[in-house]
Amino acid sequence: MSGKKPINIGIVGYGFMGRTHSNAYKRVCDFFDVPYRPVLKAVCGRSEAQAKEFAERWGYESVETDWRALVARKDIDAIDICTPNNTHAEIAIAAAAAGKMILCEKPLAMNMVEGQAMVDAVEKAGVPNTVWYNYRRVPAVTLAQNLIAAGRLGKIYHYRAQFLQDWTISTDLPQGGTGLWRLDAAAAGSGVTGDLLAHCIDTALWLNGAINSVSAMTETFVKERKHTLTGKVEPVKIDDACAFLCRFENGSLGLFESTRYARGHKALYTFEVNGEKASLRWDLHDLHRLQYFDHADDSLVRGWKSIHVTDGDMPYMKSWWVPGLQIGYEHTFVHHVADFLANLGTGAQTSPTFREALATQAVCDAVLDSADARKWETVVPV
Ligand SMILES: NC(=O)c1ccc[n+]([C@@H]2O[C@H](COP(=O)([O-])OP(=O)(O)OC[C@H]3O[C@@H](n4cnc5c(N)ncnc54)[C@H](O)[C@@H]3O)[C@@H](O)[C@H]2O)c1
Repeated sequence: MSGKKPINIGIVGYGFMGRTHSNAYKRVCDFFDVPYRPVLKAVCGRSEAQAKEFAERWGYESVETDWRALVARKDIDAIDICTPNNTHAEIAIAAAAAGKMILCEKPLAMNMVEGQAMVDAVEKAGVPNTVWYNYRRVPAVTLAQNLIAAGRLGKIYHYRAQFLQDWTISTDLPQGGTGLWRLDAAAAGSGVTGDLLAHCIDTALWLNGAINSVSAMTETFVKERKHTLTGKVEPVKIDDACAFLCRFENGSLGLFESTRYARGHKALYTFEVNGEKASLRWDLHDLHRLQYFDHADDSLVRGWKSIHVTDGDMPYMKSWWVPGLQIGYEHTFVHHVADFLANLGTGAQTSPTFREALATQAVCDAVLDSADARKWETVVPV
C-alpha cells in the first residue's frame, strides 16, 4: 500500500449521508495527495442485515448494531455520525470521551444546550472535530468566500439566501420513522430551520461574518400527520417554512427563506451578496458556476459574468479533470475529507469545527425563538 498512515473509520448510519461519506472516504486518496488513508473499518446501524448489506456494498470490514460498541472499539480512530439530529450529541460526547476524532453531520445538535455540551466534550478531549456543512466545499462557493475575503466586493450591504423544496406538500405523508424523521420534531429538533436554513446560515457566517440579531416567522402548514412509529395522528411540531431578516455584525442586512412547500423546487439553494464594488450569486442547480458583477468593468461591457469554476487555479479543481469539465454534489464530501486528512497532518482543525457549527446553532435557536415570540432576538455570541 501507499506510505499514507491509516485512519480507521467507524460510521454510524447507512442512509443518505452514510453513502455520501463512504464514497468520499473511498475516493479521496485517488485524487488528493493527503498524508492519511481512510480505512472503512466498521459500519453501525440498528438492523444487522442492512448494516451487513451496506458493509458488503461499500467495503466495510465489520458491522456493529449499537453505536456504543463501535465507540468502545480500540481499532476505531474516527467516529462519523450520519444519524438523525437527536442522536448527534450522545454519540459525539461518548466518542470524545473515548478519544476518537469526530466527523458529525449537520446540524450540530437539536439546540444550543446540546451543542455547547458537544463543544465542551471535544475541546476537553482535544480531539479533531468537524461538522459536514458540505456546501462550503463546492468550488464556486469556496471561490465566493475567497473573493469576499480578498475585499473584491468592498463593503457588503446585502446577503440573501433561499433553500426551497416541495416534498412535504401531501397531507397523506406520515411523520417519523425511517426516511420521515425530518417531519418529527423529537428526532429533527426543528423543520426547515435546522435542516435547510442551517446550510444557508453556515455559508453566510463563513462568507459574511457573524449575525447579531434576527426577526423570523415560521409556519406549519399541515398541522397533524399520522406518526409512523405510533400509528396515531399527532400534531406536527416542526416548521414547514421559515423566513427571517437579520443584521450582520459588519452592518449588512440579511434575508433568508426556506420551505418544503415551494411546488416545483426540489433543492434550490441560492445566495446573493451585494457589495459596494461587486456582487455575486450562486445556485445549487448550476453549482459549478459563480455569477459575478464587477462595477469596475468598462461600462460598455459591464454585466453579470458567469464564471465556469473548472480551471486548475480554482479551489479544489486541479485535483480533478481538465478545465471545462465540471464536478458535482458528491465531490463536496470528498473535499471535506481531503481537508480533514490534510489538517490532521499539520495539526490544524477543519472548518467548520463543532465550535463554529455552534454559531450556526445559535442563529437557528434565535430564529425559532423569534418566530415564537414574534419579536427581534439577539443571537447568543459563541
Ligand atoms: N450535509 C448535508 O447536506 C446533509 C444532507 C442530508 C442529511 N444530513 C444530515 O445527516 C444526518 C442523517 O441524515 P440522512 O439524510 O443520512 O438520514 P437517513 O434517514 O437517510 O439515514 C439515517 C441513518 O441513521 C440510522 N439510525 C437512526 N438512529 C440510529 C441509531 N440510534 N443508531 C444507529 N443508526 C441509527 C438509520 O437507520 C439510517 O441508516 C442528519 O443529521 C441530517 O441532518 C446532512
